Amino acid sequence: MTKPFYRPRRLRASAAIRNLVRETELNACDLIFPLFVVPGKKIKKEIPSLVGNYHLSPDMAVEMAREADAAGIPGVLVFGLPEYKDEQGSSAWDAQSPVQQAIRAIKSALPGMLVISDVCLCQYTSHGHCGLVKDGRIDNDSSLRLIANTALSHAEAGADMVAPSDMMDGRIRMIRETLDGRGFAEVSIMSYAAKYASAFYGPFRDAANSAPQFGDRRTYQMDPANSREALREVALDVEEGADILMVKPALAYLDIIRKVKDNFDLPVCAYNVSGEFAMVKAAAAQGLVDEERIVLEILTGMKRAGTDMIITYHALDVARWLRQ
Ligand code: PBG
Repeated sequence: MTKPFYRPRRLRASAAIRNLVRETELNACDLIFPLFVVPGKKIKKEIPSLVGNYHLSPDMAVEMAREADAAGIPGVLVFGLPEYKDEQGSSAWDAQSPVQQAIRAIKSALPGMLVISDVCLCQYTSHGHCGLVKDGRIDNDSSLRLIANTALSHAEAGADMVAPSDMMDGRIRMIRETLDGRGFAEVSIMSYAAKYASAFYGPFRDAANSAPQFGDRRTYQMDPANSREALREVALDVEEGADILMVKPALAYLDIIRKVKDNFDLPVCAYNVSGEFAMVKAAAAQGLVDEERIVLEILTGMKRAGTDMIITYHALDVARWLRQ
């Protein structure tokens, strides 16, 4: 008799046993659905670079948030395309801009829906950078006040949580101080803490009309080759008062998600970004992959890597698939 070997296949033999031993679960309540808000009324126009996602006027953003709510998705992340752009990005903190309108409208229609707002200047500046330009460079400190004012205007509109995505140094502290000083101590901050200078944002920049008009974002977003630097970035944001730590993109950065999870005790969010979404959609449209299976596998992988929640353009589909 040869020595018996252990048989891991015993625990894979049926759906019943596989369900019992499964380590990671993906749920609709883990998901956050991004919305792109444009000026106007009754507008719902599919975004060519993000099929199944729409440019929505504030009233239609409410309808989309309702759909998300009905599907069991707890939160939306709102992005705005403003009426006007200038050097400072002043439409970013204009109370009448589409995002502020949408935040007010969604919170009044669906008080229980978590409304998170993306805080950045790049959709609002004529040059398309996430901070102010001085002598051809992106100036850190003069950008902070404007970014904090933008966060404040979202809080005033009723946002539950603000999500700064600019990657300027010191912005979390400035936003926290500004919110606290104006009576918004209860508004939380989801920091795009480890955000990389990534080619995966291509379709988003198309959708948000936010591509930089000169240069690139490498002087403020992180170098994709670095992981220890991500821990330093995250540590700073924790110290400055962030409530949730985001890693972005997600798919090529699963190791970063795991490190952040292991090194910090705050919740982690992964952003399954536009390029990750578009690649899957393109492959599925060509019949190369099974869309449902591959999306569930990708998102489960992110959760297995340690994320607590996922921002994804697939959210409505996923919620539907998980319910079947
Ligand atoms: C704005 C912002 C970007 C994304 C989210 N917020 C683009 C960028 O930094 O260039 C990308 C989201 C996506 O690709 O899905 N700063």
